Amino acid sequence: MSERAPAVELRQVSKAFGPRKVLDQVSFRVEPGRSLCILGRSGTGKSVTLKHIVGLMRPDAGSVLIDGEDITRLSGRDLYRVRKRIGFLFQHAALFDSISVGENVAFPLRRHTRRPDAEIRARALELLASVGLGSEYDKMPADLSGGMRKRAGLARALALEPAILLADEPSAGLDPVTAGEIDELLAELKRGSSTSLVVVTHNIPSARAIGDELIFLHEGRILAQGAPRALEASDVALVRRFMASGGAG
Ligand SMILES: Nc1ncnc2c1ncn2[C@@H]1O[C@H](COP(=O)(O)OP(=O)(O)O)[C@@H](O)[C@H]1O
Ligand SMILES: [Mg+2]
Repeated sequence: MSERAPAVELRQVSKAFGPRKVLDQVSFRVEPGRSLCILGRSGTGKSVTLKHIVGLMRPDAGSVLIDGEDITRLSGRDLYRVRKRIGFLFQHAALFDSISVGENVAFPLRRHTRRPDAEIRARALELLASVGLGSEYDKMPADLSGGMRKRAGLARALALEPAILLADEPSAGLDPVTAGEIDELLAELKRGSSTSLVVVTHNIPSARAIGDELIFLHEGRILAQGAPRALEASDVALVRRFMASGGAG
């Protein structure tokens, strides 16, 4: 009997830009329905890691598997098929400025499904309500606060009910209360669904709230990996300090 493959697996992934080696044989797995937080200072390859998972970047060496399928050699329609299962909340939650908040959320549904308009609007409204924006459908993105835009971005990332959700510093740049709300939404998502999560964060309280497991990236390598408590008690001083500092560095 075969067990289910990990939702996400990196095997010995290396990536360089010119002379700069950003990822150096990075390996990890996220089991289905589990959540992984990626920690580390700026410029350590966290965003690059997420881009590999969604096939926006290809490794120089190693492989990336989604639900057991090696995506490193896929292109065109095959890569597109895999990408449709992955929601991506980008660091700057880029909403389209020229269409309403509701239509931003409806956008993936209009693009990837043939559902009738009324059904799409109803679904977008439901998604907005689930992130506390049920009365903002017709507002323009510019009229929302940063935290509200981030929540709308999350609703949009969830529109196609992705099996895997990637979020790149979802609470960065938000005040602590708003950041906490975003973390709570992600933690709820983890508890209430079978979605697998990979979340990049600078914020230790976020990582504790969201991550079943954390990895700490440093100079292209995984310096520590494990449950939050294991990282707090890490043998590696840098990791212990990062965990104790709240991670703001
Ligand atoms: N498309 C790219 N071309 C060249 N260098 C890049 C590219 N993307 C990222 N880098 C470099 O890779 C390193 C890691 O970037 P990134 O993953 O964005 O860091 P972070 O951990 O802050 O998310 C940085 O030095 C960055 O300048
Ligand atoms: Mg980044």
